[in-house]
Amino acid sequence: MNNIKTIMVVGAGQMGSGIVQVAASSDMNVLLHDISAELLDRGLMSINKQLSRSVEKGKLTEERKAEILSRIRPTEFVEQAEQADLVIEAISENMALKVLLFHRLDGICPPEVILATNTSSLPISEIAAVTGRPSQVIGMHFMNPVPVMPLVEVIRGLETSQEVFEVIYQLSEKMGKTPVEVKDFPGFVSNRILMPMINEAVFTVYEGVASVESVDKVMKLGMNHPLGPLELADFIGLDTCLSIMEILYDGFKDPKYRPCPLLRKYVKAGRLGRKSGQGFYQYNV
Ligand SMILES: NC(=O)c1ccc[n+]([C@@H]2O[C@H](COP(=O)([O-])OP(=O)(O)OC[C@H]3O[C@@H](n4cnc5c(N)ncnc54)[C@H](O)[C@@H]3O)[C@@H](O)[C@H]2O)c1
Repeated sequence: MNNIKTIMVVGAGQMGSGIVQVAASSDMNVLLHDISAELLDRGLMSINKQLSRSVEKGKLTEERKAEILSRIRPTEFVEQAEQADLVIEAISENMALKVLLFHRLDGICPPEVILATNTSSLPISEIAAVTGRPSQVIGMHFMNPVPVMPLVEVIRGLETSQEVFEVIYQLSEKMGKTPVEVKDFPGFVSNRILMPMINEAVFTVYEGVASVESVDKVMKLGMNHPLGPLELADFIGLDTCLSIMEILYDGFKDPKYRPCPLLRKYVKAGRLGRKSGQGFYQYNV
């Protein structure tokens, strides 16, 4: 099982294309699947752009770049997952979509294949339960941007086997990452700590304690954070922040996780952060 040579990554978005780039750069063969040729092209273009940047900086040769790209095969057909030793799912953060996909993959992939999810907040054990192989389902939570951030949270579902955990832990190291073992609880570790901090920063503005700029300045200059929590919230997407807070609130039923009304108001108004041009700050899109 630990002889993983071919990976399928499902979802050619921000995270999927980053995972593909890192896997192909670690000399694995990668199948990239998304639902249309346009989305696959967009993912491949972003990988190409990232690699070209590394060439410009002298970190990569043109030959090596070509070699990495030659390891990536885009496909519109999820059935090609039958050729993979491991599938890493990086589709939209939507439980209904993920459950459908895992049920489908379970029918396509040979029984020994591991099915991993890059979900930032959905329960691994619930995703695993729709397959006939819950011991081979695991969370592999990369951080954004994947080629830059060293961490992978390796999340054990309730039924994940020790062998599968070890395979994914070692694979993360082979991909040049630092894996950290985490159990399957709402928000795992990263978002359980990060999101309440962001939510508290929003409350601080909501209650008029300080301005957006002042809150960010306090955390950057006083705590040595590279980005202030509100800048970071805009980068992540305010809709994503809200949905993770809802998952924490719902999962623990503890009022300390209640999303700030101001966060909810911004999301309802379409202020989603960088991607919509406005969040706590204004952007040119
Ligand atoms: N963006 C982040 O900062 C971040 C960080 C860590 C984890 N994640 C998680 O990674 C996953 C992907 O996030 P993203 O930001 O890359 O999203 P994204 O919207 O950029 O990309 C998602 C891609 O999945 C594709 N897709 C949707 N349904 C599909 C299906 N059934 N089959 C094949 N492809 C499908 C979409 O067409 C899209 O290209 C989510 O679970 C998210 O929570 C995101």
